Amino acid sequence: APVVVKKICCIGAGYVGGPTCAVIPNIQVTIVDLNKARIDAWNSDNLPIYEPGLDEVVKEARGRNLFFSTDVDKAIEEADLIFVSVNTPTKKSGIGAGFAADLNYLQLATRRIAEVSTSSKIVVEKSTVPCRTADAMRTILEANSKPGCTFDILSNPEFLAEGTAIADLFNPDRVLIGSLQTESGLSACGSLAAVYSNWVKKDQILTVGLWSSELSKLAANAMLAQRISSVNALSAICEATGANIDEVAYAVGKDTRVGPKFLKASVGFGGSCFQKDILNLVYLSESLHLPHVAKYWRAVVEMNEYQKDRFAHKVVETLFNTITGKKIAMLGWAFKKDTGDTRESPAISIANHFLSEKARITIYDPQVGEDQIWLDLTDYGAIPAEPIKPNVSIQKSAEDACKGAEAIVVCTEWDEFKTLDWEKIYANCPRPAFVFDGRLMLDRKKLQKIGFTVVTIGTGDRV
Ligand code: UDX
Ligand code: UDX
Ligand code: ADP
Repeated sequence: APVVVKKICCIGAGYVGGPTCAVIPNIQVTIVDLNKARIDAWNSDNLPIYEPGLDEVVKEARGRNLFFSTDVDKAIEEADLIFVSVNTPTKKSGIGAGFAADLNYLQLATRRIAEVSTSSKIVVEKSTVPCRTADAMRTILEANSKPGCTFDILSNPEFLAEGTAIADLFNPDRVLIGSLQTESGLSACGSLAAVYSNWVKKDQILTVGLWSSELSKLAANAMLAQRISSVNALSAICEATGANIDEVAYAVGKDTRVGPKFLKASVGFGGSCFQKDILNLVYLSESLHLPHVAKYWRAVVEMNEYQKDRFAHKVVETLFNTITGKKIAMLGWAFKKDTGDTRESPAISIANHFLSEKARITIYDPQVGEDQIWLDLTDYGAIPAEPIKPNVSIQKSAEDACKGAEAIVVCTEWDEFKTLDWEKIYANCPRPAFVFDGRLMLDRKKLQKIGFTVVTIGTGDRV
């Protein structure tokens, strides 16, 4: 019979590890991280990540069955089951640079598990990893383990989306568990399934082979991103023809074979997963000598780059082909609404474009702080801040950011942008006053009535 899991350890207290473990009921969970500031924040009233509903869930469970600690070894030693949810960023140098996942953090965590464990464990990979990573983890664990300790490795990818993480976790479309089809693999799979069955219906817990599970995560993200690149490619045709991308997407999505979700044209997708996972898939395809497959998926990322560039160009072109010295307000910095996360945010590329044209930009985002924006603008210190400092100002409200701006550019679809006092904003802008809606979220007619010239992604008729 499967081992009953009594204590869980989660290595990595980030966007995945934190929320995922906070929703687990009835079982003691300790989330550990090497980053002390992060753990201190999880133990405070000011959590390190912004996610609607997260504060309540953490407050409820913390100190009861949920603990945050920097004592990695102790938590590993005590646990029956260990989630590994460390970061797996795209490699910046060496073989596969720019494509392959950097598995260094994952391997260090795996080694730690092998070295510290004095009893058998179920080790679960949560971080998105290339196909067959579990193999490498098993080799490391087996080569370093103490006598009598055995390790079962499961793949249990996380499908939560930021901004809706808590809702996604309480009510997932599915939970996916991959294991080796051996007796002990299947038994470990049963143990983890029993953890989820505390709140997820049985028929939503899918159990598959280890490699299928690893590949499904990459596949799901690649196909979601592909939908956005498809709709964004169509948005360019709409702008050139006078068709309207919202109407097209609605009509297409009514076909039940396509479905209505995830068809919103935009300035391009961002976030820590889509680009990383596709590049990962490209790298995997190339390693497997499947260049046609690699080329196919690479095009999804290329279309996304094109969309971001195209939008930035459109701003320059509309402002009579120069933005030098002009003030441009950017509304939104996060990669989507309801998160403070800025990883791969399209706003960053667009800002860089504006700065290279020597525009002066003002930035406002309700959840992203000034420090983070500077880290993004300087690529974490790789680009000097001094030369761009005079051209960047970060504001505490949308109204302040828009004051005196020749163009207002919406990069993130924060709800509050819909209900701004647009009349007042208009009164404080030089003429002609432009709004560029990169998220198709504003009431175009209303803004036009006020006097703005509105340019929206995927709509042909400019007024
Ligand atoms: C994604 C997957 O949705 C999730 O299942 C996986 O676990 C992690 O990656 P996330 O990146 O948090 O989640 O957010 P998501 O809602 O998927 O948005 C990704 C990007 O696509 C955002 O920049 C968003 O603005 C953009 N997007 C999304 C669109 O441009 N149009 C859409 O219709 C949907
Ligand atoms: C298609 C559209 O479905 C229909 O809406 C449009 O009006 C005309 O074009 P049709 O070509 O008749 O219809 O058949 P469809 O069922 O779409 O199949 C097209 C091809 O795709 C077939 O060769 C089919 O075998 C293949 N296919 C379909 C797959 O390989 N996999 C699938 O999951 C679905
Ligand atoms: P994700 O979005 O995948 O959750 P994050 O970067 O938000 O990624 O979180 C990953 C966390 O994992 C970071 O807080 C990092 O400090 C932590 N981490 C990385 N390696 C280790 C390790 N060996 N032991 C403990 N924590 C680690």
